[in-house]
Amino acid sequence: MNSLTKVHVPLAAASYDITIGATVHEHLGRLYPPRAGQRGCVIAPQNVMDLYAGRLLDSLSAGGWEVELLPVADGEAAKNLQTAEQLCRRLAQMAFDRGSVLFALGGGVVGDLVGFVAAIYLRGIAFVQLPTTLLAQVDASVGGKVAVDLPEGKNLIGAFHQPDDVFIDTVPLNTLPDRQLRSGMAEVIKHAVIADAELFSYIEANLDRIYGREPATLEHLLARNCQIKVDIIVQDPYDTGLRSLLNLGHTVGHAVEAAAADWAIHHGEAVAIGMLAEARLAVQLGICQQHDLDRLQNLLGKAGLQSGIPEVDIDQATAALRRDKKIADQTLRLPLMTAIGSAEVFEDIRLNQLDTALRDALQNHK
Ligand SMILES: NC(=O)c1ccc[n+]([C@@H]2O[C@H](COP(=O)([O-])OP(=O)(O)OC[C@H]3O[C@@H](n4cnc5c(N)ncnc54)[C@H](O)[C@@H]3O)[C@@H](O)[C@H]2O)c1
Ligand SMILES: [Zn+2]
Repeated sequence: MNSLTKVHVPLAAASYDITIGATVHEHLGRLYPPRAGQRGCVIAPQNVMDLYAGRLLDSLSAGGWEVELLPVADGEAAKNLQTAEQLCRRLAQMAFDRGSVLFALGGGVVGDLVGFVAAIYLRGIAFVQLPTTLLAQVDASVGGKVAVDLPEGKNLIGAFHQPDDVFIDTVPLNTLPDRQLRSGMAEVIKHAVIADAELFSYIEANLDRIYGREPATLEHLLARNCQIKVDIIVQDPYDTGLRSLLNLGHTVGHAVEAAAADWAIHHGEAVAIGMLAEARLAVQLGICQQHDLDRLQNLLGKAGLQSGIPEVDIDQATAALRRDKKIADQTLRLPLMTAIGSAEVFEDIRLNQLDTALRDALQNHK
């Protein structure tokens, strides 16, 4: 097989590795062999299963795994307690025991859902993340947050349950729709803005290769991104402080997402609008220089995260911002970019300032 890059996740509770490379899923049986008699279950949405489960199963079987396959419905609608219960029942019917392993094959939805099932079935069994969307590869599969949604809101029932290992294969990105790839790029750019000016320059210089799905470029990009997230989560595994830096662009982004008709906007598209609005505010507050904002705006534009995005109602977006649970007494705690490659969490940002920045960003966006 081709080259492999490993990112180690040194957590006190459970350390693990993220292994990145083209075709790693086809070699999984050898890279992640079973213990004697160990059983595994691959869980994936049907469309991802049709594309990628065949070679994965061949490899697991060749490696000695006794493996089952369970399809789930596609999309966010599958991330609920009913699906989690059905999966737990199927596992019980198949007599999966505490030594069994679940493999989550697909995007962030199946990763969060399968991780949640692994956290609760028999009070917790092992699971392995096999992310196939860019968003899941750089964000959702790393960090151990697992959850399902309630009608009252997203990710309201969940746990911290670290995967046993993560295997990121760049090959599945070849079939990922361009819009999904662009949406994932928003989180990649976010990581560069927070922590790595060099990565930001790399993306500026290599965007065509990234969007061309050039394997070596993707491998480097993914490894650097996972390392940035890992460096933050190992310092704050239970999300009580530093990890809030990863929410850059997300306070406004969530408001934009909530205001878009029928969730027509993709998460990354909303985060891109959010990052720009929040960066504008940082400039107004004298926290960040105009030329850094210009560079961010330029790169988001080149990455296709500035135009062609569904329209969002400005009044609904500002109303959603005001409903945000993090906002107390008209002020909020907000991570802001201080320069390309660095961000800090600021206390006491005034809501009306952020409101204005959001309005400006949406008006400029049209
Ligand atoms: N746990 C975390 O820390 C964390 C972080 C960020 C996001 N998330 C969660 O991730 C979810 C979003 O993830 P997502 O954007 O990957 O969405 P998703 O899982 O719904 O995947 C998007 C679509 O792409 C399809 N797909 C997946 N891989 C493909 C491939 N290789 N080729 C073709 N199609 C493919 C999927 O079937 C789906 O239709 C949300 O539920 C969000 O809450 C979790
Ligand atoms: Zn996000």
